[in-house]
Order: sequence, then C-alpha cells, then structure tokens
Amino acid sequence: MTGVSAPGPAAVVVRPAARLRGELRLPGDKSISHRALMLATIAAGESRITDAGDGADVRSTAAVCAALGAEIERVGGDGGDGGDCGDAGNGGNADYRIVSPGADGLRAADTDLDCGNSGTSLRLFAGILAGLPFTSVLDGDDSLRRRPVARIIEPLRSMGAVLHARSNDSLPPVTVVGRTPLHAVDLTTPVPSAQVKSAILLAGLRADGRTTVRESVATRDHTERMLRARGVDVRTETDGGGAAVSLEGGSRVGTVSERVPGDISAAAFWLVAGATHPDAELTLGNVGVNPTRRAIIDILRAMGAGIEERPIDGRGSGYGTDAATGAADDGVGEPVADLVVAAIDEIPILCLAAALANGTTTIRGAGELRHKESDRIDGTASGLRALGVRVDVDGDDLRIHGGGALVGASTDSLDDHRLAMTFAVAGLLARGVTTVHRPGSAAVSYPGFFADLERVGS
Ligand code: S3P
Repeated sequence: MTGVSAPGPAAVVVRPAARLRGELRLPGDKSISHRALMLATIAAGESRITDAGDGADVRSTAAVCAALGAEIERVGGDGGDGGDCGDAGNGGNADYRIVSPGADGLRAADTDLDCGNSGTSLRLFAGILAGLPFTSVLDGDDSLRRRPVARIIEPLRSMGAVLHARSNDSLPPVTVVGRTPLHAVDLTTPVPSAQVKSAILLAGLRADGRTTVRESVATRDHTERMLRARGVDVRTETDGGGAAVSLEGGSRVGTVSERVPGDISAAAFWLVAGATHPDAELTLGNVGVNPTRRAIIDILRAMGAGIEERPIDGRGSGYGTDAATGAADDGVGEPVADLVVAAIDEIPILCLAAALANGTTTIRGAGELRHKESDRIDGTASGLRALGVRVDVDGDDLRIHGGGALVGASTDSLDDHRLAMTFAVAGLLARGVTTVHRPGSAAVSYPGFFADLERVGS
C-alpha cells in the first residue's frame, strides 16, 4: 500500500507505490521568483508577478523587499495546500502586485533583514544594497549562517561598498554599508556561481561605468534575461564553456508584468520518480526549461528515461515545456565536469536516479554542494547508504554503484529541502517503509510536495 503519514512534525513515513500517476502543477521557479520581486523593488512603479513560488525562501525575499520600502501585496495564489486546483495538484504559488519608489526611493530597514534559509536572497540583496546609500544587515537561520559570503564580499568591496561579516568576513550576518555610485569593475568570479555573478551585476547597475563579470563555467542566466526584459542592455559573450556578462551603470530597470514558469528543480523529483518507477506516467505542466537549467532532462534522457517534451508558448524569462515521464535503465557513466554547475540543485535526486540505473555513475568536482543548505555530498551519501546503495565519497567526488534494490530505511534531510524530497521519492521506490526525518524543510521551495507525493502514489 502506498501512503504518506506524519507520525509527528519530526518525521514522515513513505511507503512504496504500486504505480505513479498524475498531473502536477509545480511551484513557480524559485530563482526567477526571487529576481522578479527584487527587480520590481528596484524599478519605480507598479509590477505584477503571477505564479511566483510560494515557498519560505521566496517569502523571505518578499519580506525584505517590503522592509526596504516597496509595497508588496499578495493578490492571489494558492499557497501549496493542494486545494482548489482540480486534478493538477498545486506546488504552491502566489501572485503579487508590487508598487515601489524604485532604487533611489528605498530606505534603510528598521531591523536586520531576515533572509531565512535563502542563500539567493542574501547574496543578491548584498549586491543591490551595495549601491544604496545606507547601512543594512542581512541575516538568516542557522543554516544560512554557515554559508560562505566572502565570495560576494570581496567583489563588492572592490566596487567601493563596505561590507563586514562574522568569522573574519566569511559567514553571515553581513553588514552592507552601501554607496552611490559604486566603481565599475571587470572581474572573474572566484567560483562559478549565479548568485555571485548576479550580486555583481545588480551592484553594477549603480556603478560609474561598464561592469563585466567573467565566469569560467557559465551559470544560470536568469538575472541577465530578466534585466533585458526590463530594458537593460546586458551583453553576454561566450568563450568555450565560460561567459563574460556586462552592463552599463545607471541603466534604468523598468517594470513588467510577468508569469513565472514552473520550477525545473522541483520537476526533477518527479522526472526521476517517473523515470525509475516501473509503472509510472506523470505529466508536469509548464516546466521552465531555460538552457542553463535543463541539464537534468538531458541527463535523464541519456540514461534512457522516456521524457516527452511538449513545448508551450514560453513567456517572460523562462521557456515552458510540458513533460511526461517513462522508465530509464542506463547509468549515466562518466558525466562531464560542467554537470555540477548545470544541475547544481539536482545532484541529490540525480544520485538517486544513478542508484537505480545500471552501472556506476561518477560525479566529479561537486565541492560547491558542501556549501548548500547542508553538506549535500555527505547528506546524500548518508541517506542513500541507509537505503542500501553503495556510495563512495572521495574528496568532492561521488561514485554511485547502481543497479541494486532500494531498501526502506530511516533517512535524515538535515533540514535541507532537496534532501527531504530526494529521500521521500526514494521511499516510493524502496522495498519496505522509509522514514524521512525533518521533512518540513521541503516547504522552503515546494510547500505542496508531500500532498503531491500522496496523490501521485495512491
Ligand atoms: C541560484 C543559484 C545556484 C543554486 C541556487 C539558486 C540562483 O547557486 O544552487 O539554488 O538563483 O542564482 P550558486 O549559483 O551559488 O551555485
């Protein structure tokens, strides 16, 4: 029998599903939702955002925007309770109307700015605040306080802002003493990170010339696309796998009305469930398939997954696709090194797919995973090992020996949303009962996840 029950807030029990069926409506893309709210806050006038993700992270961003002086009104949405959405479920979305005085009219908040669990909020706001002439403190929960910030502090300092952080300027909270204008810079990011690139570009809007950010491996490009859609001339030159992105300081950011596509990082859980379960047919509506984000689909296909894409008319900054799933049977072999950047948030669930595929999968150079909401290399390895999978961790490389059966076990999300959802999907596929401890973290990005799990598995 299939089922999800909650013996208490501390754990969820997941039983194997005989079959998986259903149509899922995903939460709005988290990366796009954050940026839509932030850009509406630095644009003067009224913006509308439809179908933004309604997870805790995006709510944190909305609260910070409001604290800085934008009027943020929720005008609709369905909050991830699975209600009022027919058969298609609901991952949790919100619609917003934002009226802002624009960057020049924002003001210092009365209190510290609480980014909750959200690294994207903290790092992108640091870039925005670096060019505003007041002092702010960006803080968050215990997990966020363990995430590295030197990677944004150093470039923003080189632009003339004054920033300080705990533990020798390496960990939040971050104090930002902004200034206008900043100095334009031409620099290479210390690690390939869309958050770092975006922080510098957002600061570059308030600089005295052209700012260029160079990356050795091109990262997700939502900031660039969304700024262009708002009238900013952002130029991208690609060079092998790398990119140089530049914009002119003083560019005006306009207002737009935008619909956020479904989050491919949320879709990934169902793509893998559908690809690995012997009797599955799942349909995912309106999945954003931005080329810098869609690697998970291409990797699963290379593993033999039957994923059918039906392109729909993409609007705003994403592309839309409806995806339907079927079974996969090949291991991923030796994926290219850039996989880690192209599928950075999908690695835990991809490891589960690798465990169920034939052969051995090696993921090299995944060190950035140690700096996410948890140490995702150790967290993924521990959970999969508990489920009976042979996993080797060698420095920042992961090797998964696939082909064995999953055995239901006790797993721990470490309060990391992507681990909670990975182990819950494993529970649908394992023999016996799987317990996911600290499952509540799923609500960081996908508030309706467990309701959807119950529905597609029953
Ligand atoms: C994000 C970028 C990625 C990703 C995160 C969201 C973004 O982080 O892991 O979930 O919205 O820019 P890095 O680019 O720092 O690796």
